[in-house]
Amino acid sequence: MESNFTIGIIGGYGKMGTFFKNFFEKKGYPVVLSGRNKGLEKIELVKQSKVILISVPIKVFPEIVKEISSYIEDHHWVIDICSLKAEPVKVMKDFIKKGEVLATHPLFGPYEKDLKGKIIAIWRIKGDNLYKWFKSIMEEEKLNIIEISPEKHDQIMGLVQVLNHFWLILLAKIINDSGLDLKDIVSLTTTSFFKQLDVLRRLSYQDARLYARIQLDNPYGKKFRDLLCKNCLEFNKALNLPEEEREKKFEEYFTLAKNIASELEKLIQTY
Ligand SMILES: NC(=O)c1ccc[n+]([C@@H]2O[C@H](COP(=O)([O-])OP(=O)(O)OC[C@H]3O[C@@H](n4cnc5c(N)ncnc54)[C@H](OP(=O)(O)O)[C@@H]3O)[C@@H](O)[C@H]2O)c1
Repeated sequence: MESNFTIGIIGGYGKMGTFFKNFFEKKGYPVVLSGRNKGLEKIELVKQSKVILISVPIKVFPEIVKEISSYIEDHHWVIDICSLKAEPVKVMKDFIKKGEVLATHPLFGPYEKDLKGKIIAIWRIKGDNLYKWFKSIMEEEKLNIIEISPEKHDQIMGLVQVLNHFWLILLAKIINDSGLDLKDIVSLTTTSFFKQLDVLRRLSYQDARLYARIQLDNPYGKKFRDLLCKNCLEFNKALNLPEEEREKKFEEYFTLAKNIASELEKLIQTY
């Protein structure tokens, strides 16, 4: 595959921008960068590049697309990596009239060392060549590529990201409010809880602004937060019933969880 064309990254000095700079340079592509106060000016970057990867916060994404859109020509390939997809895809469809366009969401952070088995969601907006090139380059790294509509993606992210972050943050708050010493908790943890603590540990690398946008901008986020709170109240209420009733209720909840767990057992093994 041709690998001598230039890849320009807008937001190229940020976390994911730096990740993709290293990624593409390792594959032999020349990479140019644009930051707010360093590197190339955005329009100059567009003129010098074939691929334009936009790696900026979701909030400023529309204004960046609008700013560069009239400089995108037929030979250009434009890629976004926003963590939400419906709005960014709409903006790209509305404003980018030439070239090829691909929406993506890498479901991993910038500090991953091994990409094997990691997932990247994609949605083809315009053109075959960019789509084929991007797929082949990601497959070389043994990434799993999932093609999914922007709406369905955001809906699933309501659970996978919004709800997951929501209860991770709550877990940290509960640990904080418990009055227990974190060192004591870590020293006396089960295998299962250790896995949860390990997931919580990874928040230390993350950026509050990005997490705020993921939490607050996903149109399905409120639905999942409300569902969690409603279920917490109902489950807790059930466990405050008289002994016989609460044991029965607990078993009902546990059987449901066990059924989901058995389905997961099959799904995760075959994945
Ligand atoms: N971090 C993750 O785990 C992750 C995972 C998947 C997808 N994403 C997506 O990746 C994108 C970038 O996230 P990130 O974590 O890499 O963010 P980041 O570290 O904050 O980097 C953002 C970059 O955008 C630039 N930028 C900010 N405002 C700008 C503006 N008004 N005009 C031009 N450039 C501007 C910044 O420039 P300066 O260098 O001048 O500050 C910076 O280089 C987001 O859309 C996010 O949803 C992130």
